[in-house]
Amino acid sequence: MSTTEELQTLVLTILDAKGTIPNTKDLVASDNKEVDQLALLGALKSLSIADKEMVKYETIEEEIWVLTDEGNEIADKGSHEAKVFDAIPVGEEGIAISALREILGETAKIGQGKAFKNKWVIKRGDNLVRAVDSIIDQTRIDLEVIRSTGTHSDPKVLFELRKRKLCDKHKVISYSVSKGPKFSLTIEKQARDVTFEMLQSGEWKTANFKKYNFDALGIPPSGGHLHPLMKVREEFRQIFFEMGFEEMPTNKFVESSFWNFDSLFQPQQHPARDAHDTFFLKDPAICTQFPTEYLKRVKEVHSIGGYGSTGYGYDWKIEEAQKLILRTHTTAVSSFMLYNLAQQKEFKPVKYFSIDRVFRNETVDATHLAEFHQVEGVIADKGLTLGDLIGFMNTFFNKMGVKNLRFKPAYNPYTEPSMEIFSYHQGLGKWVEMGNSGMFRPEMLEPMGLDPEVRVIAWGLGYAYYSGLARTGQRSTSI
Ligand code: PHE
Repeated sequence: MSTTEELQTLVLTILDAKGTIPNTKDLVASDNKEVDQLALLGALKSLSIADKEMVKYETIEEEIWVLTDEGNEIADKGSHEAKVFDAIPVGEEGIAISALREILGETAKIGQGKAFKNKWVIKRGDNLVRAVDSIIDQTRIDLEVIRSTGTHSDPKVLFELRKRKLCDKHKVISYSVSKGPKFSLTIEKQARDVTFEMLQSGEWKTANFKKYNFDALGIPPSGGHLHPLMKVREEFRQIFFEMGFEEMPTNKFVESSFWNFDSLFQPQQHPARDAHDTFFLKDPAICTQFPTEYLKRVKEVHSIGGYGSTGYGYDWKIEEAQKLILRTHTTAVSSFMLYNLAQQKEFKPVKYFSIDRVFRNETVDATHLAEFHQVEGVIADKGLTLGDLIGFMNTFFNKMGVKNLRFKPAYNPYTEPSMEIFSYHQGLGKWVEMGNSGMFRPEMLEPMGLDPEVRVIAWGLGYAYYSGLARTGQRSTSI
């Protein structure tokens, strides 16, 4: 096969001599072989691209008839029926059918029928005898015509021969080529860049530059990366998704004290509700929309108790619950989600998680910021135990590569029992607090309307980003 350059030279020389190439299927390459039309297309494309325009071409689509292997064999050596006729000696005696089989093999069987039909032979006893002096092998003639012209004037012949699997229709593509506006015999190499040498010699003024391809896709930029915080977040998310958790909507940084504290059975005089620990909003300062019935039940459980609890026995005030704050933990969202779960007709077990920002009014120093990220997981189902929580946390932290966990009893207003989670840090050589966890109290869940059989286990861990280091661990005041 010819190279692209050879094909280009061939096309250009012929165009130079004759002006056009009506059909490239008639081209003959230097090695006297037919030109491969697909290779030719490559050559034509590069000669005709917008900035070169050396040639113009159009596609010609033709149907041609091509002989099958058997068709070629017949065109070369004659049809089966002609072979049968030729094998029968001249004269009255002819040849025994069995002898004919011996000479011609399969051809004897295939050719006989057609030879009879053509009235070329007759049967005499067990012998075949010639019925005519000479024959015209029309099949062979037709096939030769098809082979040399690619078609036949009689469509019936084509149909018949195709049925006998001697020829078939093919689609061929070739091209008609003419000179383009920038026709020339020599292919000039186009410059891609303005070089220092070009500027010095002045060659840039006359150089033939390759045109810009504004449709080409750019090279993807290799810079840019996820912020370390977002990387950690992505890792956590994947672990949660792997374990079948759904993500909670945490796109509200401003919360009411009601959802952040009261709904969590956190008393109104708890130190975390102090301006020293929590950011309160000035404008707007309050929220007034709450589910009324639920709010009433929350007020009751705080002040007089219920659901087997004596409550805190204080004067619960709506004004305190209305105060808007920057949420101090994502448990505010978990609470809202559990309330919504309780409003559904039929309880179905859920696994929720969230990873988002929380805010605490702390003095900013090298290891403390006023905001950090919390990762929170919540599982609600009937009959869950503390064992489930411990087992679950082992799996969860193992997936993060944190082995060797220890649990220490702790206190949260909304969980009982509660546990802090510690892990041994090789680098620091000590046990580090990873997070806080527990089983939500009935005083929190039952006012929501959840079935008393439903247990909810939950845990949270904080991580923040200080001076290039993502670190985990909860913050000061237990809230
Ligand atoms: N909200 C707790 C904190 O901020 C974490 C936690 C979540 C504890 C869920 C128990 C259950 O420390």
